[in-house]
Amino acid sequence: MAIPSIQSAILLSFLVLFLGPYLQTAKLCSCGDDHKVGNCHSIERLALLDFKNGLENRSNRLSSWRLDNEDCCKWHSVGCNNVTGYVEEFDLNALTDTTLATKQSGGISTPALAQLKHLKYLVLRGFSIQELQFLSHLTSLEYLDLSWSDLSKTGESLQYINRLHSLSELHLSFCKLSSFPLMTNFTTTLSVLDLSFNNFGGFFFKAILNFTALQSLDLTATEIQGPIPKAIEKKTSLKTIRLGLNELTGPIPDVLANFTSLECLDLEDNHLEGPIPLSFGAFCKLKELSLARNNISGEITKFVNGLSLCRPNSLLEILDLGHTKLTGNIPHSIGNLKSLRRLYLYQTSMNGTIPKSLGQLSKLKFLDLSLNAWDGELTEDHFANLANLIGLFISFDEKPPKPLFFNLSSNWVCPLTKLSYLDLTNCQLGPLFPSWLRNLNGLSFFVLENVGISDKIPNWFPKIYPSLFVLDLSNNQISGKVPLELRNGLKSTEIDVLNLRGNLFSGTIPLNINETMPNLQFVTLSNNLIEGSIPSSICNLKQLKTVSLSSNNLSGELPQECWKDLEYLEVIDLSNNHLSGKVPISIWSAPRLSLLSLSKNVFSGNLPPNLKTVGPLRVIDLGENSFSGNLPMWMGKRLPHLEILRLRSNSFSGFIHEHHCLLHSLRILDLAHNGLSGTIPHCFGNFSGMATVHPTNPFLISSMTIKSHEFVDQVNVWITRGIELEYNRTLQFMESIDLSHNAFSGEIPAEITWLLGLSILNLSMNQLTGRIPEKIGSMQRLEVLDLSRNQLSGSIPPNISTLNSLNHLNLSSNNLSGRIPSGNQLQTLPDPSIYAGNPGLCCAPLKNCAPHLDIHDLDHEEDKEDWLPFFISMPIGFVVGFWSVCGSLLLNKSWRYAFFRFIDDMTIIPVCVVVKVRSFRLGRNHNAQHA
Ligand SMILES: *[C@@H]1O[C@H](CO)[C@@H](O)[C@H](O)[C@H]1NC(C)=O
Ligand SMILES: *[C@@H]1O[C@H](CO)[C@@H](O)[C@H](O)[C@H]1NC(C)=O
Ligand SMILES: *[C@@H]1O[C@H](CO)[C@@H](O)[C@H](O)[C@H]1NC(C)=O
Ligand SMILES: *[C@@H]1O[C@H](CO)[C@@H](O)[C@H](O)[C@H]1NC(C)=O
Ligand SMILES: *[C@@H]1O[C@H](CO)[C@@H](O)[C@H](O)[C@H]1NC(C)=O
Ligand SMILES: *[C@@H]1O[C@H](CO)[C@@H](O)[C@H](O)[C@H]1NC(C)=O
Repeated sequence: MAIPSIQSAILLSFLVLFLGPYLQTAKLCSCGDDHKVGNCHSIERLALLDFKNGLENRSNRLSSWRLDNEDCCKWHSVGCNNVTGYVEEFDLNALTDTTLATKQSGGISTPALAQLKHLKYLVLRGFSIQELQFLSHLTSLEYLDLSWSDLSKTGESLQYINRLHSLSELHLSFCKLSSFPLMTNFTTTLSVLDLSFNNFGGFFFKAILNFTALQSLDLTATEIQGPIPKAIEKKTSLKTIRLGLNELTGPIPDVLANFTSLECLDLEDNHLEGPIPLSFGAFCKLKELSLARNNISGEITKFVNGLSLCRPNSLLEILDLGHTKLTGNIPHSIGNLKSLRRLYLYQTSMNGTIPKSLGQLSKLKFLDLSLNAWDGELTEDHFANLANLIGLFISFDEKPPKPLFFNLSSNWVCPLTKLSYLDLTNCQLGPLFPSWLRNLNGLSFFVLENVGISDKIPNWFPKIYPSLFVLDLSNNQISGKVPLELRNGLKSTEIDVLNLRGNLFSGTIPLNINETMPNLQFVTLSNNLIEGSIPSSICNLKQLKTVSLSSNNLSGELPQECWKDLEYLEVIDLSNNHLSGKVPISIWSAPRLSLLSLSKNVFSGNLPPNLKTVGPLRVIDLGENSFSGNLPMWMGKRLPHLEILRLRSNSFSGFIHEHHCLLHSLRILDLAHNGLSGTIPHCFGNFSGMATVHPTNPFLISSMTIKSHEFVDQVNVWITRGIELEYNRTLQFMESIDLSHNAFSGEIPAEITWLLGLSILNLSMNQLTGRIPEKIGSMQRLEVLDLSRNQLSGSIPPNISTLNSLNHLNLSSNNLSGRIPSGNQLQTLPDPSIYAGNPGLCCAPLKNCAPHLDIHDLDHEEDKEDWLPFFISMPIGFVVGFWSVCGSLLLNKSWRYAFFRFIDDMTIIPVCVVVKVRSFRLGRNHNAQHA
């Protein structure tokens, strides 16, 4: 399926992911076919029209519902008995037909439905149904599905369900129910009960004992806690048990051994522990087993060996044991589970070699073995009969010392011709560019990050993949012309996400990149050898969100005045190139721009003096260029979200104005090595972003890759299960002020000691006078304090010795006098040079009011200073290292929560991820996921 853009993929994935299992209805109405006889009954026709009139928004789908179209048995969504002509089936799904659902706030006209007295099959999904009395008239109902309808305010009228004597299937999934009435009238008929995604808190469980004919029970995400409820032990006739996404604890009870008819057991996303019960190996009727995302331990050998003895075959189609604590290896006997379509063994503690017998699973569609400690090699045998494979995921979170080696001959004809999704991150495929990739023309998601290829890119690559929309070849040593002119014949590519960072690609960015890759949203070409200038056609990439071209050989000027038209652009990183000239004014006004890094280039000129609109910038890094002129006023007024302002090593001049103190979110201010003068304003104390301690910095994501590990069949939405977030732990977020190497004069404002979150304060090499602020001791987070080479006088406040985190102090070359405080942390900083050049200072560690150290002794201090800018500039490069695939979503629960917690206040994330966060916020109920 061609996925035109990430947005539609997201939409689709969202739908399928969350709604997927709930979208299909078991039967479809057979209305409208040629075998129907006679017209429908007019009373029912009128009732249907009445119902339609009650809908606020008339759907096209109901266009067949017209008075002049008399045979209502042929109407869409309606099915009649072919003998009596009565309507027996009615199926309206506002989830798949969104025009139906719009603004159903008042509910729908249910009384009209009460006229359809012969209904056996009723589906009303996604409506707001507040009154269920009509059900009391539908006494023939056998199948009722009101899923995704808000029944939270239905109250007593929920009782009417109990009038349905003949009910055999009841689906009330995602109905916001918190309680349920006693059900007695259909306990002997009900065979399928689906109450998933409601908030029962588990109390409902006992009631199932009363359903003597029950075969299928779905209580996914109903807040059941504790051990698997005892009540289930008596229901050995159950074929399907779904208890995923609850808070179940303890082992999987052995009593399940008595469930000999079990076909489907889904216990994923709980806290279950212990091994897979031995008895499961005898479940020859088992079609689906999901224990994923539990603390399940032990090995799978006995279980798989057991199933491999089933005659004629094990029926197991889905085996999901991902994100568990399983150990051991994959037994050879897995090759006998011939029905397997999905095998998920990602993120376990399994190791060893991957058996060749996997290559015999000819029905396999999805294979995910990622994030395990496999060794050995994969050969042609491993893939021999996998012609139906759609998704293959064997990635590692880092390159193992002995990476999993793909030992495939160069003339191998890869049989995986249906493969759509491939992620082999950190395997070893190189050093040559694998020629078997030529057979995989169906690829749309293609990730070969760090797979050890050091070869020239072949000229067939990647033109032969007409449906490619994610391409990641990052961190290899691929050389040759950067593949930006990919075209499939005359057709442009669909690529949305392109990550080629960290290779040896050369060449230029094509002038018509807007025509060769018009859909680009995330493009990361950093750390390559790309040269030439940035073409103005980049502004015609209307979907662009993130562009990172840092650390290449780009030169020339930026395209002028087109940037503000890029309405989705959030991240621009052009750092570390040879770009020159003036920065176009329009770049500041890109409406969603959050991060702008132009550091380490040769840009020059002034910043624009007046700007009416500025993007929601959080990071501005213009460091190490040749900018000059004043810091304009708008920088204070129009950047309420700015967290990092780095202008170091330029030629800025003039004053810091009080307006600049309006940067309330600022956490890093680096103006070092410029020609700024005047005083440090008292209002520095207003930088409230530095007054509190922020535990981690959202920008310190060295790489955030959202990997797709799990994909659903043909609607082909991909669902993610692994998000890698690497925090760089050594680089804790440092709130810092660096004004060193300027010409600031006057006193250090006492208000600066209000900035209690500050870790680094560097005011060295200025002309500051007066005393060190008395309350310096309150800045308990300070790790670096450098006030050297100023004209500070007076004594050192004794409370400086209480700065317990201080590991770098320099007060040298001032006019300080009096005793050097001692004790506590200062004891660990015995190097006398940090006090040198202060004639009036005395006592330890300068020993006996010793002779003043010569200023030349300080030379090594100069070197030390260099780590500071490095330290501060580090985070900025990181954020753009991420690329993310929106729509990839189904993270495991812990990751998911960790991730969403993490990005809580982070706006530099692709909008689609925000959308997803919101949808999660709508309630945990939306965490559906079995496909
Ligand atoms: C009417 O429907 C029943 C079952 O739905 C089917 O067996 C029968 O052949 C149909 N009769 C006609 C005349 O279509
Ligand atoms: C069971 O059905 C009968 C007849 O419709 C009704 O009178 C009775 O109230 C129902 N029982 C409950 C508990 O609703
Ligand atoms: C089960 O049915 C019995 C009578 O048939 C009834 O008294 C009891 O309340 C029911 N239990 C639940 C939990 O609905
Ligand atoms: C399970 O079966 C065994 C023997 O077949 C029996 O002794 C035991 O009572 C059964 N357990 C339950 C809960 O039915
Ligand atoms: C697999 O892991 C176990 C520990 O869980 C270890 O003892 C064993 O040596 C490992 N085997 C291989 C082949 O790495
Ligand atoms: C591509 O960009 C060029 C230069 O900006 C422009 O002339 C051309 O019309 C653009 N083509 C498309 C399809 O946007």
